[in-house]
Parts: sequence; C-alpha cells; structure tokens
Amino acid sequence: MIDIEITTDLAEKILLKKRELNAVILAHYYQESEIQDIADFVGDSLELAKKAKETDADVIVFAGVHFMAETAKILNPNKLVLLPDLEAGCSLAEGCPADKFEEFRKQHPDHLAITYINCTAEVKALSDIICTSSSAEKIINQIPKDRPILFSPDKNLGKYLIKKTGRDMLLWESSCIVHEHFSEEKIIKLLTDNPGAKLIAHPECTDTLLMWANYIGSTSRLLKFISEDDSNSYIVATEVGIIHQMKKAEPGKNFIPAPPEEESCSCNECPYMKLNTMEKLYLCMENKFPEIILDSIIAQKALIPINRMLEMS
Ligand code: 13P
Ligand code: SF4
Repeated sequence: MIDIEITTDLAEKILLKKRELNAVILAHYYQESEIQDIADFVGDSLELAKKAKETDADVIVFAGVHFMAETAKILNPNKLVLLPDLEAGCSLAEGCPADKFEEFRKQHPDHLAITYINCTAEVKALSDIICTSSSAEKIINQIPKDRPILFSPDKNLGKYLIKKTGRDMLLWESSCIVHEHFSEEKIIKLLTDNPGAKLIAHPECTDTLLMWANYIGSTSRLLKFISEDDSNSYIVATEVGIIHQMKKAEPGKNFIPAPPEEESCSCNECPYMKLNTMEKLYLCMENKFPEIILDSIIAQKALIPINRMLEMS
C-alpha cells in the first residue's frame, strides 16, 4: 500500500516537473512498466528517433539507453537532453570501439558502412548510413547491388539481413547480451508444452533460435503482429519489458517470456535499460543532470548518416 502511494507521489512529481521544464519523456519498450506508463511516447529505436526529431519541447528526457539519448541530442543540438542514468549503455555499442571501427573501414575502402543505431556517436560519425532493426532491410534494398557493404556492429542482425536481402555483407562481430542468451532447448520445450503458441523473436537473436521463430521483427513489429495474428499464446524472444505493452494491447492473450540459458538470472532483462528507475527519472529533471554532452564536430558528422536513415526508412 505504502509502495503504491510512493509510486503515485513520484509519478505526480514527475508530471509536475515535466510541465515546469516543458519536457517530453520518450521511453523505449524495454523500460520498466511505470516508466512506460508515464512517458509521452513509447516506441522502438526508429520511432523514438523520429519523435526526438519532431518534438517542440525544450527538454528531452530519454528513458532508454545512452546511444538513444545521444541520437536525440545529435538531432537536437540546442536542446537539453537528459538520461536518468549515464551508465545505461549497450553491449553492442561497447563491442564496437571507434578506433577499431575506423581500422575496419580502412581495410575495406570500397565498402559502404551501414551501421546499426546501437553504437556510439563516434561510430555513427564514421558511418555512411545508420539503420534500426525495423528499417535495415528497406535501407539495404535501396543500395545498388554492386556496392559492397560493411554491416556493424550486430553480427546476429547482420546474418538475418544477409538471409532476407540476399546481400553478402561483411559483418562486425558484436552481439546483444540479452538476445544472445535465450535458451533454444527451453524454448523448444515451451513450444512442445504449449501447442498453438507461436515463437516471436527479435532479429538480434541467434540464427539457430530464429530458425524456430514463427515471426521475426523489431519491437514495434512484434507488438503489431500479436494484435493482427489469430493465435492466443506467444513465446516472446526479446527483452521482457515489451510484454507490458503486449498485455495492454491484447489483455486476453497469453505472453510467455523466452527463458534465458542460465537458471538463476533475469538475463531476459536488459541490465542497461533497467538502470533507469522512476526515482532517477525524477531526479534527472529536478537536477537537469545527467545531461548528454557531445563534441560538436562528432555530432555534426553523425547527423549525416542519421538523416540518411530517416530519409530512407
Ligand atoms: P528496436 O527497438 O529497434 O526493436 O531495438 C531493440 C533494441 O535492442 C534496443 O536496444
Ligand atoms: Fe543493447 Fe541488447 Fe540492451 Fe538493446 S537489449 S540496449 S541491444 S544490450
């Protein structure tokens, strides 16, 4: 009871602060439920970048991870962009340091660099086109067939896109710690124990897991699919936060979080996304800190491939 009062009180304080700052709260589907419920907009990486570009708010509060807030800042260099916890990173971004990426590009000077949005501003600045999981296929299909492509940093998404587009891309070797650790064995057992249940999966999952999937798509596409599809039960192979929106959209359906390999961990939760809390959301607005600050030259260079993504999506 007391907990509910504290949460309600905090939610009211967040809304008051938001009005005072003329702020907009943008949240990714992997945020905890309370944060999703208080946000002005909840979406996937592409939708959030589009919202950040469109907003006329003075302050953008980004309830997501660092690369997403950085993208919002690149699109709005004169706005205050706040991230509740600056440590909210991403294993994909960490697995692709800018100096090594620059080296990779130099080794393949004739290749076009299409880079997943899950990377640092420095890596974006070294790329030709940015993409998200919902826009990558469409973007790759617009590149002339004779132009070789480097796809970074997610090897799993890259392998999936090679299959979907028929393009033989060179892949950077990084992966998502959440999507790579779902247990294929436990998922197959769940499919056997729940006849009629469909496996829906994010393309950041491994190719061996994707082989079992009835439907593959970005977070927004998975959400759309469960409303359009006629099944009643789904095994959801992406970060568990999305299930909050799935239950809201289809309260009569059953959603089973895909289990991770390890028995005693909540590895189907993104540890970076979950660093943000309602308290930190309030405090970042109260203190106008932590703020995203970027080198202006890097930001200007990174804006070019981000704008290409927005045009080509
Ligand atoms: P999307 O929201 O684009 O599906 O990406 C998922 C993700 O891993 C975000 O970090
Ligand atoms: Fe990065 Fe994976 Fe977390 Fe998304 S779910 S932010 S890709 S670590």
